[in-house]
Amino acid sequence: MLIAQISDTHVTRAGVLASGIVDTAAMLADCVAAVRALSTPPDLALLTGDLVDAGAPEEYARLRALLAPLGLPLLAIPGNHDAREPFRDAFGDQPWMPREGFLQFVHEVDSSHGPLRILGLDTLVAGESRGELCETRLDWLEHALAAAPDTAALIALHHPPFLTGLREMDEIGLSGRDAFADIVARHSQVKLILCGHLHRNIQTTVGGCRTATCPSPAHQIALDFRPGSPARFCMEPPGFMLHRWTGEAFVSHTAVVGDYPGPFAF
Ligand SMILES: [Fe+2]
Ligand SMILES: [Fe+2]
Repeated sequence: MLIAQISDTHVTRAGVLASGIVDTAAMLADCVAAVRALSTPPDLALLTGDLVDAGAPEEYARLRALLAPLGLPLLAIPGNHDAREPFRDAFGDQPWMPREGFLQFVHEVDSSHGPLRILGLDTLVAGESRGELCETRLDWLEHALAAAPDTAALIALHHPPFLTGLREMDEIGLSGRDAFADIVARHSQVKLILCGHLHRNIQTTVGGCRTATCPSPAHQIALDFRPGSPARFCMEPPGFMLHRWTGEAFVSHTAVVGDYPGPFAF
C-alpha cells in the first residue's frame, strides 16, 4: 500500500501567479508527471490542504483537471487557503465527502497488508490563517478512533499539531493541539499523522505517534529559526511524499520534483 501525499498546491485562476511569483499550476503539472513516472504507482493520492490559493470554484475546477492524469483515488482535506463549500462542491463526486458540516471523514482501505483507516480532519477557520480543532471536531475524532481500536489508522490534518520553531508559522498554528495529542495517546492504533501548511518536511512525535509535514510541489517556507523573523517563502526544490504501509508501520519517503543528474551506478 503506497500513499502519495501532495500538499499545498495553491492552484490559482488561469493567468494568476500565487503571491505574484509562483506558477503553482505548472508546478503541480510537473509533480503529477513525477508521480506518474514512479516505478511503483501509488494506490491513492492524499491532498493535505491549501489545494487552491483563494478558495474560488474556478480554482478547484483547474485543480481537478490538473490532478486527473494521476488516475488515482483522491482523498482531500482543506487548509486555510481553501473555502469549505466550494471545496465540498469540488469533491462532491467522492464517496468520502460529507454532505454537510466539517469536512471530516473515515476512509477504509482494504490493503494487501490488511485493513487501514485514513481519517481526514478539518482544521479550517473561515477567513483566518490559523487552524482549530474545536470540541465538535475533537469529539468526532475520539468517536471515530474508538469505533475501531484494533484497525491501524492514519490521521491527516492541514495545520500541524506541534510547534515547529518557525515562529510566524507557529503563530498561525493549531488551537486544540494538546487535546488532539491526548486523543492520539489514548489510541495506539494511530500509526502516522500527516500535515501540510509548512511547505517543507518537518518530523516529530505527537501523542507518541510519528508526525510529519510535507513539502509543497510549488514554493517552500524559508527555514529561519530567528525569533521575530517574518514568514517568507523560497523556491527550494519542490516535492511530495510517499508513505508505504507494511502492515506494521509506515515508511515515509520525500521525493523531489525536477530534473537532476543520474541515477548513476555505484
Ligand atoms: Fe500552504
Ligand atoms: Fe496553510
